[in-house]
Amino acid sequence: MKILSKILCCQETKVFIGKNALENAASEIPEKAKVFLIRQDVLDPTPIRSAFKNIVAEFVLKGGEESKDIEIVLKIAEKMHSVGIQRSDYVVAFGGGTLLDVAGFVSSIYLRGVNLVNIPTTLLSMVDAAIGGKNAVNFRGIKNVLGTFYQPSIIIADTLFLNTLPQAEFVNGLAEVIKYAFTLDYELYNFLKRNFENVLSRDEEALEYLIERSILNKLSVVEKDVFDVKDVRIVLNFGHTVGHMIESLSNFSVSHGKAVAVGMVYELMISTEMGITKDYVLKEAIEMIKVYGLPTSIRELNVDIPKNLETLKAVISKDKKAGWRGLTLPVVVDIGVWKPLTVNIDSYVEALANALNRC
Ligand SMILES: NC(=O)c1ccc[n+]([C@@H]2O[C@H](COP(=O)([O-])OP(=O)(O)OC[C@H]3O[C@@H](n4cnc5c(N)ncnc54)[C@H](O)[C@@H]3O)[C@@H](O)[C@H]2O)c1
Repeated sequence: MKILSKILCCQETKVFIGKNALENAASEIPEKAKVFLIRQDVLDPTPIRSAFKNIVAEFVLKGGEESKDIEIVLKIAEKMHSVGIQRSDYVVAFGGGTLLDVAGFVSSIYLRGVNLVNIPTTLLSMVDAAIGGKNAVNFRGIKNVLGTFYQPSIIIADTLFLNTLPQAEFVNGLAEVIKYAFTLDYELYNFLKRNFENVLSRDEEALEYLIERSILNKLSVVEKDVFDVKDVRIVLNFGHTVGHMIESLSNFSVSHGKAVAVGMVYELMISTEMGITKDYVLKEAIEMIKVYGLPTSIRELNVDIPKNLETLKAVISKDKKAGWRGLTLPVVVDIGVWKPLTVNIDSYVEALANALNRC
């Protein structure tokens, strides 16, 4: 088990990674503090109940995007209020990325912020959603419209919880790991290329390596740009402009991981055509995404995504990286090397429509 610590936005975030992380981290919470548990319906809460002695109430949440809803946030706040949660108490969030997004949001607004412990239970949430303090719920069919920045004080990435995770969900998380490799981490790229059997069979050592490496990558980016205002943190959005568009236009029937995998391919196609990305990178990315069982083309998603310019523009214009300056995107230059690029929205949408119509 490993412990990482970072000061993010004036407070310490401690990350416990690996087997038995839960037991080691739970002792950090003062005995007298009340714990409000927000937990995933499909998960056995026994280990959490025995690790945290002072759980005063529980709120059970379904997985999936439907849970990222402001009405659910209000229901949770209602229950926190009914059991008298105070600022010095703790919300423990135990579940996948959607649950952590909802729990993070409510923790940040309740009494202007109560302590938050994230216990991610999907690979995607361990390597990404649990880290960095972004939270949000969807609004009017658009992803992550209502949200805040709010850092958890403790993150517990215990591989024990991955034991029950279906392989399709596990593979979803690998999309974000591949994202780190192509934008920031050549060593991780090499590891993923050479160790796909160990990774896909969830070998403990391989898992701990890629989780730690991903968390380190994310922490190092977040540390430099906590509030996502310096064109640094946007690197974490590689594959997400097109990915979020696919999620929205499919009414969230395509999983985040699959949407990001396909998103990375189309974003690379466009940046290669623009002459920014080295030619071999796209082929390498497609190969790796395929090896890990993720889709590389819109056709594989079996959903009807409109490809006309007006619809694409309407969705892309709502992307959080779009503004009066244009659309600022992270662009991969070479494996492990990226740069921010501001483009004209109309030209980008045209390039995207061409790419989507081609394959
Ligand atoms: N805040 C951030 O920085 C950030 C970063 C990346 C992604 N996200 C968000 O995370 C969400 C996706 O998260 P996700 O992929 O974890 O999906 P999810 O939370 O919907 O979980 C996927 C499914 O797995 C189930 N599940 C969770 N843990 C399980 C376990 N251990 N065993 C068996 N089943 C389990 C859930 O019930 C659900 O059905 C998206 O909404 C995305 O926007 C947020």
